[in-house]
Amino acid sequence: MKIAVAGTGYVGLVTAVCLAHKGHTVTCVDLNETKIKMLQSGKSPIYEKDLEDLMQQHAERLTYTTDYQNAYKDAEVIFIGVGTPEKKDGSANLTYVYESAKQIAQSAEKNCIVVVKSTVPIGTNDKVEAILQKEKVHDVTLEVASNPEFLAQGTAVSDTLYASRIVLGVESEHAEAVLKEVYAGFESPILVTNRRSAEMIKYASNDFLALKISYVNEIANLCELVGADIQDVTAGMGLDPRIGNQFLNAGIGYGGSCFPKDTKALHWLANFHDYEIKTVKAAIEVNELQKIKLLKKARKYYESFDGLTVAVLGLTFKPDTDDLREAPSLVNVPILLDEGATIHAWDAVGVENFQKVMEKADCNTNNIVYYATPEEALNDADLCFIFTEWADVKALDLQVFQTMKKAIILDGRNCFETEKMKELGVIYESIGR
Ligand code: UDX
Repeated sequence: MKIAVAGTGYVGLVTAVCLAHKGHTVTCVDLNETKIKMLQSGKSPIYEKDLEDLMQQHAERLTYTTDYQNAYKDAEVIFIGVGTPEKKDGSANLTYVYESAKQIAQSAEKNCIVVVKSTVPIGTNDKVEAILQKEKVHDVTLEVASNPEFLAQGTAVSDTLYASRIVLGVESEHAEAVLKEVYAGFESPILVTNRRSAEMIKYASNDFLALKISYVNEIANLCELVGADIQDVTAGMGLDPRIGNQFLNAGIGYGGSCFPKDTKALHWLANFHDYEIKTVKAAIEVNELQKIKLLKKARKYYESFDGLTVAVLGLTFKPDTDDLREAPSLVNVPILLDEGATIHAWDAVGVENFQKVMEKADCNTNNIVYYATPEEALNDADLCFIFTEWADVKALDLQVFQTMKKAIILDGRNCFETEKMKELGVIYESIGR
């Protein structure tokens, strides 16, 4: 089928490439010329496993352009996969979604289905439809469908190709039939609902996972107080199929582009309808506190961080991505710098992005030194924080901690066995153990 995709971020680009992989002809639209030029040269602007390989493999079916009119004019299906960033009040900023809808309305010369893939508040698809009706230039039928994505960064391609489910939120049999044709080559179960339910499925799923993490983090905090071990506890919980064993890893909180934004957006939406969604509110609050939990633990050993060399292992919000959005490092590093510490930082792929964010932040970036290996970052440090469970960190020869000036390790991702660290004779604090 002839498909166009608005937006070349995580959602848009991954969707486009996976649809091309299944045999569709896909045009990716983005107004950012630098990104489009990069894509045209076969390079992906984001770090995502297998993405660039598939881009190159299906180059003949993939086009990248800023010329939306040409891309939209005869597409059978147009996906909107643009960003819906968080506004100051916690609500979702829908400017890019509505702007894409206007551009589609101005350009479409053929009947088509406009599919909203971006995570949007319930009711947004109706607004997109209203924009399309109001702004359309040609005498065409533009139907709207909701098709949320459930991809996680780092595994976005496989999450899309082998999705746990494909949710189609439609208001007509025609839209359902066309979308089923789009996904004919996929083996995932398909659930057909109305548009509002599909929009809600996305928020309800993300917020449930965020809730699960915050719950487990609170149980971990309690484990520390009562002498239980969170990993044994979650192993026991996870054996119950009603609970499941995924997303039970305690740590220093969830970050990323989705959970923080989508919990706040649902909370905002509930408030807008005069309803307080207490569980989600609690998940948000617990997460904020969890992010600074290790700093509190560190104060047991140092009253102030002034003059200390602090090794920071991991800057991204999780491994296998260069994304820093809402990463615990962004909360902790500025506090450490403010108190006069020198940061010896290491990350597998996130350093460049971290530098960009830090340049804009109001803190003393001269006191951050970046190292090519975790070993180098640890050398002679007074303290070490682990914020991301990169494979390189988990694979460290534990003897490396002996190269620190003082071997005090604060592990926010439970990377090492407590017994082994005890045998090593280092001070090791983790979460819930
Ligand atoms: C998430 C959802 O998984 C995905 O379905 C949705 O489409 C977008 O949001 P993502 O943000 O890429 O994906 O990453 P994910 O792997 O879900 O992790 C999110 C955060 O939760 C990370 O900071 C991670 O460290 C944290 N997390 C995850 C935990 O702290 N414990 C866990 O058990 C799992």
